[in-house]
Amino acid sequence: MKRVLSGIQPTSESFHLGNYLGAVKQWVDLQNGHETYYSIVDLHALTGDVDPKLLRARTLASAAQLIAVGIDTEKSSLFVQSHLPEHNQLGWVMECVASFGEASRMTQFKDKSSKGGADGARVGLFTYPMLQAADILLYQADLVPVGEDQRQHIEITRDLANRFNTRYGQVFTLPDAYILKEGAKIYDLQEPTNKMSKSASSASGVIELMDAPEINTKKIKSAVTDTGREVIFDLENKPGISNLMTIYSVVTGKTIAAIQDEFAGKGYGDFKGAVAEATVEYLRPMRDRALELLKDEGELIRILNHGAEKARVLASKTLKDSYKALGILG
Ligand code: TYM
Repeated sequence: MKRVLSGIQPTSESFHLGNYLGAVKQWVDLQNGHETYYSIVDLHALTGDVDPKLLRARTLASAAQLIAVGIDTEKSSLFVQSHLPEHNQLGWVMECVASFGEASRMTQFKDKSSKGGADGARVGLFTYPMLQAADILLYQADLVPVGEDQRQHIEITRDLANRFNTRYGQVFTLPDAYILKEGAKIYDLQEPTNKMSKSASSASGVIELMDAPEINTKKIKSAVTDTGREVIFDLENKPGISNLMTIYSVVTGKTIAAIQDEFAGKGYGDFKGAVAEATVEYLRPMRDRALELLKDEGELIRILNHGAEKARVLASKTLKDSYKALGILG
């Protein structure tokens, strides 16, 4: 059975539609026929500003949402990254395998650090991909379901694993990114050439799983559309409509061609109404279930502790193997 690992940062009270369609939906689907490990990567969240009360609340909210959307904690190991110090330990090893140059070429680091300047960006933001590599390699994952924006981080993970194996002996499995064609990049509803993001300048273009249905309906109905009035998929000239078509396609299971037929001769208004209704009804049961689960913090913590125990079996073995290969005295 192939092994799957992925992670999500607890940096918001709610996942957004991009997180869900680009990654988490695949996490749920891959539970059948794979051995699955899913992590709430709180240590990664320390690379931005931290509000301690919020970090705790967001970690619990992430767990509730993952269970609510269908992560089955009997099938999958669902755990909090910081509960396993092995992540930091192998992270250091990966920092010592990576070169300064390759770390400097990571586009996510370049984007984020350019916003705050050299004194604003944390060192942890720079070493972030090496910790992410450790997250993946500790579990000897074959597949890593993520959105398009994570592709480069999976590539560096493969490079580091390969370099380690060549220098010190075969320890790590080389993982493949698992990125679906549709939904791998969901765009902001107000700025449809930017990806939907937790750090968007305005919330009005971001569909949050935990927002009330009325709010999401309003956001979709006021999404920026393009000139013209035909519902046609054309990412370059019609990024707004194309993004809504992608969303509608994933939540209804209809193909893009079928959607074009469905709305032939109708205007943007009808189309946006249909997208809003389909999306909101799709998200409604997930939100309701997450709100229910959040009422029992103790149970969520119990589930996460159980997940950490299951994850520790593999993580500690891989760490030991890597230390041994390096000649660290056991
Ligand atoms: P994070 O927390 O930013 O996002 C979680 C997942 O959501 C995907 N995603 C999107 N997909 C489609 N369209 C979008 N607009 C969109 N925005 C986000 C992301 O690609 C991701 O899959 N570095 C990772 C967290 C991480 C990780 C790992 C992932 C840490 N360790 C190990 C996999 C394996 C991140 O910041 O994701």
